[in-house]
Amino acid sequence: MGRNYRITVIKGDGIGPEIIDEAIKVLDAVSSVKGFELTYIDALMGGIAYDVTGEPLPRETIEKAKSSDAVLFGAIGGEQWDTLPRQLRPETGLLNLRKELGVYANLRPVKVFDELVEASTLKEDVIRGVDLLVVRELIGGLYFGEPKGKEGNRAFNTMVYSESEIRRVAHVAFQTAMKRNKKVCSVDKANVLDVSQLWREVVTDVAKEYPEVSLSHMYVDNAAMQLIRDPKQFDVILTGNIFGDILSDEASMLSGSIGLLPSASIGDKFGLYEPIHGSAPDIAGQGIANPIATIASASMMLKYALGEVEASECIDWAIREALKDGYRTKDISQYGAKEICSTSEFGSIIANYVGKCRK
Ligand code: IPM
Ligand code: MG
Repeated sequence: MGRNYRITVIKGDGIGPEIIDEAIKVLDAVSSVKGFELTYIDALMGGIAYDVTGEPLPRETIEKAKSSDAVLFGAIGGEQWDTLPRQLRPETGLLNLRKELGVYANLRPVKVFDELVEASTLKEDVIRGVDLLVVRELIGGLYFGEPKGKEGNRAFNTMVYSESEIRRVAHVAFQTAMKRNKKVCSVDKANVLDVSQLWREVVTDVAKEYPEVSLSHMYVDNAAMQLIRDPKQFDVILTGNIFGDILSDEASMLSGSIGLLPSASIGDKFGLYEPIHGSAPDIAGQGIANPIATIASASMMLKYALGEVEASECIDWAIREALKDGYRTKDISQYGAKEICSTSEFGSIIANYVGKCRK
């Protein structure tokens, strides 16, 4: 029996469908080179799901996701759904899917491509060689805490973490650090927040199980500053849901375009793979979106969910080769472009390089 995997594909809204199509093109190329088969199961989520079914996350999507080997997701959201009640908003669909799948650790690697150092707004010597990983807690904290809501002219959310929630994501950070440069920087706001005090205590305790990894703590405001001042000091950044959301967008700018960064959301059972950027409705349908983040997310999926490490390496190699040879989408076209490509041309180019991969 050959290797055959079932992938639930959620294209979503805005540029979601365009970038996912390119990821699939590349996955098809790499699976044929590496001799495995992928079966795709389409599922609805976000604004489109609301339009079709009246809900941002239909039950059917959850079932499909849970019965497949991995979920590949594009992006959701758009102005036309912004006035819906919170329960019906596209973003709620995504948050509920993450919760349903129990994907508590969101890995967001930030690697600066040598070919694109100029694309960053920061100086070359600050960012050349940056290679860090944000491990963001994804299904707790301020996003999910109770109580929340609106009462008269007050509105509130709660930042809450239990010891076990902190512990499990901390283990992911330390385990990943063991395979990297063995440094974890835990980011919190323990000088002000009780929840951060607990975060710090639990992370310090988990660290005892990883004596080879050096642990530091940093307040989130300082971390925001240090990321710009000297990003190379970081290896793994471990942080909670809201801080990780903010810091990962900030960190994406080290690489020059938010269209470059992939992510893997993992838990004990399931995995969800998605670019860190949003649905960019302003450029949807124009064929100018950068598919790299989604293609690189597909690569993370091959590695983490399917164990197809060579195939994943082939995709990463192909992305680098395409950049080296001067192919660029519009967002990064000012930097070393020999040829400016549409979303779909760029996907075909990567797929073509994958065919030449010798890994
Ligand atoms: C992200 C996004 C989401 C988040 C939104 C779309 C709900 O910003 O994945 O970073 O805040 O987690
Ligand atoms: Mg975000």
